[in-house]
Amino acid sequence: MGRRHASNARYKVGSVDLIRIVDAAPSVAAEVGESLNVAWSTEFDDLLTDPMVDAVVIAAPTPLHAEMVKLCAAASKHILCEKPIALDVETTVEAIEAARKHNVKLQVGFHRRFDPAWRAAFDRIQAGELGEVYQFHSSHRDLKPPSLERVRASGSIFVDAAIHDFDIARWLVGEIDEITTFGAALSNPDQLGLDNAVSVLRFASGALGVIDNSRVAGYGYDCRSEVMGSKATVRIGHPTQTDIEWLADGHESVDFVRDFAEGFAEAYGLELSDFAEAVRLDKEVAVSGEDGLAAFVLGTAAERSLAEGRTVRLNRKGTGRTVKYSMA
Ligand SMILES: NC(=O)c1ccc[n+]([C@@H]2O[C@H](COP(=O)([O-])OP(=O)(O)OC[C@H]3O[C@@H](n4cnc5c(N)ncnc54)[C@H](O)[C@@H]3O)[C@@H](O)[C@H]2O)c1
Repeated sequence: MGRRHASNARYKVGSVDLIRIVDAAPSVAAEVGESLNVAWSTEFDDLLTDPMVDAVVIAAPTPLHAEMVKLCAAASKHILCEKPIALDVETTVEAIEAARKHNVKLQVGFHRRFDPAWRAAFDRIQAGELGEVYQFHSSHRDLKPPSLERVRASGSIFVDAAIHDFDIARWLVGEIDEITTFGAALSNPDQLGLDNAVSVLRFASGALGVIDNSRVAGYGYDCRSEVMGSKATVRIGHPTQTDIEWLADGHESVDFVRDFAEGFAEAYGLELSDFAEAVRLDKEVAVSGEDGLAAFVLGTAAERSLAEGRTVRLNRKGTGRTVKYSMA
C-alpha cells in the first residue's frame, strides 16, 4: 500500500511533492526510493526531523500505526493513516487525541469515499433522489488472501477488510444500531482461519443491510454496493478492468480486476489529493479519526456477534463527525 501512495504522491497528485520514503526493510526502501527518484531511508525519525515534510502517509503494518500517528502529531506533521488506526479502542482514541492536541490533521484511509462511482452515488442519495433507504448491500471479496504474516498482523477480517464496508454503510446510509454476524473458516481453517463472513445490519433509520466479505473469492477482486430506496436503487462498483464483455463460442466473459490496487487506482490518488487540499487550505479532512474509530468499533461488534452467536446492539454518543460508538 505504501508503494501505491508513494507512486501517487510522486506522479499522480500534482499538489504533492514527495520528499522521502521510509521503510524499515532496506531493500524495500531502496527499491521504492530509487524507482521514484526520491530520498529514502529506514528511519522513521528522518520524516519527523525533516523540516520539508508537512505531512506523512502511514502505510506500515497496522500494529505500528498508532505510535507513528503520535510521533507525527508531536512533530507537527499532518497524517494520512491507513486503516485501522489501531487494533484496540483505547489506542485508537489515544492516537486521535494526540492529533487533536497537536492540532494536526488526521485522515483515515477509507479510499472508497473518493472513488468517483461511490461519490456519485453518495451525492445523489444526499440530494434525495433515492428517497428513503430500505436496504444496503455490500460485497467485498478478495481474489486471494494476503500473506499469512500480513493476515496475522492485521486483526480479524472485520477490522481489516469489512471495516471499509462498515464505513461505507455509515457514509451512504447512516448510523448503525445492530449487527449480527456469521462467519466461516473454509479454505484453510488451520492457517488462515476465518475467510468468509456475512453481517446483517439494522440502521438507526430502520433500514436493513447485508455485507458479505471473502478473502478467497477465487475469480477476482469484487467490490460493489447497492442501496435500495423508496424512489430509486443505485448499484455501485466496477470490478472489471475494462468495459468489455467478450462473447465467443457459447461463452461470455469479463476481465475482473485482481486486487484493490487495480480496482481503486483512481480513488487512492483522489484520496491523497483531497488530504493534501485539507492540509493546504486548512480544511477539515473528509474522513476523520472518529470515522476510523466508528468503523473499527463496528468491526469489533461483528467479532463479538460471531464469537457469542448473538445480535450486538450499539450505543452512540454524538452525531456526524463527533459520533462515538460503543457496544451495548
Ligand atoms: N486502504 C486500503 O485499501 C488498504 C489496502 C492494503 C493495505 N492497507 C493497510 O496498509 C497497511 C500496510 O499494509 P500492506 O499490505 O502494504 O502491508 P505490507 O506488509 O505489504 O507492507 C508494510 C511495509 O511496512 C514496512 N515496515 C515495517 N515496519 C516498519 C517500520 N517500523 N517503519 C517503516 N516501515 C515499516 C515493511 O517493511 C513493509 O514494506 C496496513 O495497515 C493495511 O491495513 C490498506
